Amino acid sequence: MKKTQIVGQSQVMSEIGKILDIFVASNAKIRPHFILTGASGSGKSYTIKSLCKMKNLEMLEINAAQITKEGTSGNSLSKALVPLENYTSKNVVVFVDEFDKLFISGNSNSSLANEITIGVQNEFLKILESKYTSVYGNYGKYHDIDISRVLFIFAGAFNNEEKITLDKLRKFGVKTEFLGRVGLVYNTNKLTLEDLYTILENSELLNTYLGIFTDVDRDSVVKSIKEYLKKNYENNTLGARIINTLINQYFIKGGRLGIEDVEDITFQTKLDL
Ligand SMILES: Nc1ncnc2c1ncn2[C@@H]1O[C@H](COP(=O)(O)OP(=O)(O)OP(=O)(O)O)[C@@H](O)[C@H]1O
Ligand SMILES: [Mg+2]
Repeated sequence: MKKTQIVGQSQVMSEIGKILDIFVASNAKIRPHFILTGASGSGKSYTIKSLCKMKNLEMLEINAAQITKEGTSGNSLSKALVPLENYTSKNVVVFVDEFDKLFISGNSNSSLANEITIGVQNEFLKILESKYTSVYGNYGKYHDIDISRVLFIFAGAFNNEEKITLDKLRKFGVKTEFLGRVGLVYNTNKLTLEDLYTILENSELLNTYLGIFTDVDRDSVVKSIKEYLKKNYENNTLGARIINTLINQYFIKGGRLGIEDVEDITFQTKLDL
């Protein structure tokens, strides 16, 4: 299998790697829960998943955007944590992804949104402090599970703002009590143009396409996409995700690139350019 390659994030990789090493070496007696921020598509989720894999750590991913406070319809935290039953007496990372979605409520009903934001944070507060939590079980009955060996990681892009600090998080609506318990913040770097080039050159998707479109010259694909990346570097809000979009467009649309064209992609049945 190909080795994971995370480009441009060596600093945050080593900082988080250190935390995970401490967590494992202390057998979960030391649990430095933390928040990871950084622009969308810069590798937050990718970094956490890859590091857990590298360190052989069990990981449970939960999506904060789908969690609602207990009592509000939907998925509450006590349901989302049910899979922890499978990791009894193991060290495990609970990766709370899209954490920022709890705070950036868009045009939804703001008093309900606020109630949910506070409610979910309160549920996390309880969990971060205690050894056990009750989860939703069979027949709607709750029962306790051990959470004393869980390290919590919260990740979010927070409007793609750079260098998010504890103060900025507080302004977004993260409670002081929460930051008191999860007081470490790490940032992924914004990917440079060179980083994007490297990711393109190592792209598995590109290789797969080239295996199907055998007439297409690799160098010209790479050249066109690099030109596009360079010209649009400043207004790219997709981070590394733009690379797969461009590769798909290149092959599906016969060499034409352009984000504004995404809506009219036409599919060809014949695989030639
Ligand atoms: N630094 C990187 N090096 C190599 N590939 C990357 C990097 N960052 C992102 N990618 C690629 O882009 C995809 C999306 O990245 P990821 O899911 O980690 O973004 P994210 O920072 O979590 O963004 P979001 O805030 O939108 O969730 C990854 O699966 C990976 O293929
Ligand atoms: Mg992500």
